[in-house]
Amino acid sequence: MGFAELWESLLPVGRDAATGGYRRYSFTETDMACREWFTGAAAQRGMRAGSDRNGNLWAWWDAPGATGPAVLTGSHLDSVPDGGAYDGPLGVVSAFAAIDQLRAQGFAPVRPVAVAAFCEEEGGRFGLACLGSRLLTGATAPAAARELRDGDGVTLAEAMAGAGLDPGELGPDEDLLASVGVFVELHIEQGSALRGLGAAVGIAEGIWPHGRWRLDFTGRADHAGTTRLADRRDPMLPYAATVLAARQAAASHAALATFGKVIAEPGGANAICSAVRGWLDARAPDEAALHRMVEQIEDAARQAAAGQGVEVEVRPESFTPPVEFDPGLRARLAGALASCGITAPVLPTGAGHDAGILAARLPTAMLFVRNPTGVSHSPAEHADPADCEAGVVALAAVLEELAGP
Ligand code: GLV
Ligand code: MN
Ligand code: MN
Repeated sequence: MGFAELWESLLPVGRDAATGGYRRYSFTETDMACREWFTGAAAQRGMRAGSDRNGNLWAWWDAPGATGPAVLTGSHLDSVPDGGAYDGPLGVVSAFAAIDQLRAQGFAPVRPVAVAAFCEEEGGRFGLACLGSRLLTGATAPAAARELRDGDGVTLAEAMAGAGLDPGELGPDEDLLASVGVFVELHIEQGSALRGLGAAVGIAEGIWPHGRWRLDFTGRADHAGTTRLADRRDPMLPYAATVLAARQAAASHAALATFGKVIAEPGGANAICSAVRGWLDARAPDEAALHRMVEQIEDAARQAAAGQGVEVEVRPESFTPPVEFDPGLRARLAGALASCGITAPVLPTGAGHDAGILAARLPTAMLFVRNPTGVSHSPAEHADPADCEAGVVALAAVLEELAGP
């Protein structure tokens, strides 16, 4: 089956009719539909498929005579709220399409080839990005993961059990990890560098260090029409000051800081809030700059809160140190692409990926597919069909190099 047909078969799952964005949150009905799509795609190809103990999906091409650690490819199927169609799914669909292409060419791998769809990569439901790969590698403790809660207070353990998975099984899986020799994740580019370079496909150099912090500002609920300004303890004010301070801090460190999620409680238009909860996403080219920027933002939050008689609590929710992808593997990818006439520039990225988590345990690499506008985490995210096809050709060449004799 070609890329286009497989892509079309996944496209309607979890798409919101009003926004055109995707709401594919872990362990929901939509996620179950994505999981069925994955096992169906594997079954169509005669691949052995199933979930691991952490809710990550795997499909295996156990070709006759293929032995040793597998060549793993794939990405994720979950989305941010109103995410684009490509972030994650492009890597999973391209993985199956590349296997189809290799089989059509008569390629006989000497190592097993596997496709993975990692669970909760975006942290869109439980707040911890790359949760499935973190649990697999032991980067996150299972007891802490089980207690993570979604916006409705449902724990990860409850959500998993509701989806027929056993949360008691969560945790590192050394045997599974040992069965994989290398991971290559294909992903839509989340910027527009490839457009500027005139290339359809790129190779990732590394990932900026990044993390998420939750800021809880607690004040006093009161009447919007009768409470004198001087008598207020309004948590919205230090929150707003912190958002502006974050923007300034990011600019001064050549870094990025974003408040993309905020909850005002209890949320009455004619009342001062009792609490404002905001999530800071912070990323920088190096770890020292990231920590300096976050400290600066925390200081600004504390100062602004004190000035309004508001309490503030800052809690880290996730952190990913800088990642440099395996230089030897990168060179092999570049060689494999060059031998089929593809020039792939090397790019750094500020976006997080499961490949960045697995890089701590295995040689890992990433391929990027050109994004003509650079827009991502948005319904407007797009890749041209011809570039998606080029991505499949590139991935097939890479799998051939890594799983071939
Ligand atoms: C994942 O897409 C991230 O970088 O947040
Ligand atoms: Mn993403
Ligand atoms: Mn992604």
